[in-house]
Amino acid sequence: MKPSPGMDAVSVIHEYTRIACLQTTWYHRPMATSSALAHPNIAFIKYWGNRDNGLRLPMNGSISMNLDGLFTRTTVSFQPSLPFDELIINGREVTGAALDRVAYLLDIIRGMADIHERAEVLTENNFPSGTGIASSASAFAALALAGSKAAGLDLNERELSRLARRGSGSASRSIPGGFVEWAMGTSDEDSFAFSIASPDHWRLADCIAIVSASHKQTGSTEGHALALTSPLQAARVADGPRRLEICRNAILNRDFELFASIVELDSDMMHAVMMTSTPALHYWKPASLGVMNAVRQWRGAGLPVCYTVDAGPNVHVMCPESEIQTVETKLRAIDGVSDVLVARAGGAAKIVTNGE
Ligand code: PMV
Repeated sequence: MKPSPGMDAVSVIHEYTRIACLQTTWYHRPMATSSALAHPNIAFIKYWGNRDNGLRLPMNGSISMNLDGLFTRTTVSFQPSLPFDELIINGREVTGAALDRVAYLLDIIRGMADIHERAEVLTENNFPSGTGIASSASAFAALALAGSKAAGLDLNERELSRLARRGSGSASRSIPGGFVEWAMGTSDEDSFAFSIASPDHWRLADCIAIVSASHKQTGSTEGHALALTSPLQAARVADGPRRLEICRNAILNRDFELFASIVELDSDMMHAVMMTSTPALHYWKPASLGVMNAVRQWRGAGLPVCYTVDAGPNVHVMCPESEIQTVETKLRAIDGVSDVLVARAGGAAKIVTNGE
């Protein structure tokens, strides 16, 4: 309502104050720009296949560890002058499917905050993306946190995990810190991730054997949609709760032997599903197999190591921190391994300020 000649003095003052307050909120909304940092995670019990592709509700629960040292940092700024959302990854403007996916999450945030401005999204990764080092997990976790804060929302961990899940399922697990479980849940409300142990609970390291830095051909979004075309997926899903329980207990009891056996089984089961889908997905390269065979041999000879592979050719080799040097040296000696990245258990996604 506009102050009008017929209004009494108190109402006029009241109305001018209300308009002034609205304008102050509009022009000085405290958080129109916000930056966040999130780590990728490595899944020990994998998520593969959705029962609802739109909401990204998974067919099975999963467990992972955040990877310290590797990160995505994202700054979101909502700007009234922008006609479209803009996405800049590592200094390059990106359009097409990647921008659409980011805009989809921004639309959800805009709906929650009841705002309409488009956003500029500046993002950088300090590791190769699209090669099975879960860049989408850290990307959408950082986007959910920075975007919601910039929109003036103050979401709790559960709400952030649910929001990140809408961008990429595994991103739900990059919101909490340390060792994380994502409960499949029954609906959008109760499908979120939570910490089962802090990063310092178990000094584990992920030595990632890089065998290819090129971008994978079939992304996980398309991959999930193919899961049920494999006759093995139903068996994999039915056995999920058993593997989850063994893995959770192995982590809580720091039982490496049990951990190694269930992690390798779970990775092999997911790749068996991938390889038997229509069309078939083969993510392993010859060097991936070389690393997996070597790891099994080393464990047979008494070294505490095990492997797990996501939707890409690079092999994540898990070991206690005390064995990092031995494992890294051995991995570098394998034919086809071009580099080894080492990551310890990492913390939760967080808001960062300039210079952090
Ligand atoms: O979150 P997405 O859609 O990128 O799927 C991740 C799938 C795997 O990395 C292969 C497994 C997992 O649980 O992270």
